[in-house]
Amino acid sequence: MTNDVASLLRELTESCTSASAIHVDHLHCAPCCSPCRITNPNRGNVTGHFTRFIPFRIRNTTLSTIHKYSFPRALRRIASLAPTQIPNRDLLESLRAGWENESWCGRTDYLEEVVKWAAVTPGPILECGSGITTILLGLVAGRRGIPIWSLEHDVNWYERMTSLLHKHRIPGVEICVAPLRNYGNYFWYDPPLDRMPASFRLVVCDGPPQLSTPGERYGLLPVMRDHLGSNTTILLDDTGAEDSVLLRWLAERSATPKFFKDEASHSFASIVLD
Ligand SMILES: C[S@@+](CC[C@H](N)C(=O)[O-])C[C@H]1O[C@@H](n2cnc3c(N)ncnc32)[C@H](O)[C@@H]1O
Repeated sequence: MTNDVASLLRELTESCTSASAIHVDHLHCAPCCSPCRITNPNRGNVTGHFTRFIPFRIRNTTLSTIHKYSFPRALRRIASLAPTQIPNRDLLESLRAGWENESWCGRTDYLEEVVKWAAVTPGPILECGSGITTILLGLVAGRRGIPIWSLEHDVNWYERMTSLLHKHRIPGVEICVAPLRNYGNYFWYDPPLDRMPASFRLVVCDGPPQLSTPGERYGLLPVMRDHLGSNTTILLDDTGAEDSVLLRWLAERSATPKFFKDEASHSFASIVLD
């Protein structure tokens, strides 16, 4: 081997090692869809090993293109299921990979719980914080005729979400621009209460953003109190048994929480109000 070839190989290998570190989610999404499989060298397929030698920039662009197609493809597959059929984990991972908003979207375990409840809930759904969950709620519950109300504080994100819902003809979802309002000792959305259903049966609570919102998600219970009856289930993301919001809720209202933790120790809870 000449020095030139040896140094080129070394350079390629180094760039691929850093690519693996940066695109760790892409590597982990490998079981989700066939196009993604080529990105995972651990699966032992020939293409996987080959792509280790593709320089970072080319690989990055290729992955982006693959994921651009994997999103509408996964979406079509979910839309082709019977409305009561729950999309499986592979399909959810495929949709999530194509969504390309890793740090801001619900993890797969949470999405699985969301679609399980969306497939059976008998009444209206309230969503706090729109995103991939809004799309799934529309595809699963919206197609069963269940109304979904989604609160979104960010106007730019609202516009992106409404145009996506329109483009993919996702039924049943009303997204409301609801700026965050100061309620005294916490901030929360300012929802159009007089237009909303009298009673929600399911709440998918993954907003407002925790780090930048004083009081985090606490406002759901006091602000929506009159619209949340007994037997309403709240799927609260990013929480655990010691979470201050949950402890405050439980001190103020009788409810039964159940905790979930995924393999990366990310936790969420389902809370059934008494
Ligand atoms: C945690 S996200 C909600 C995600 C949604 N439930 C999902 O699973 O995709 C809460 C809020 O973050 C904001 N958000 C979403 N993606 C964002 C991004 N890439 N950068 C900044 N804000 C984002 C939106 O305003 C959204 O309502």
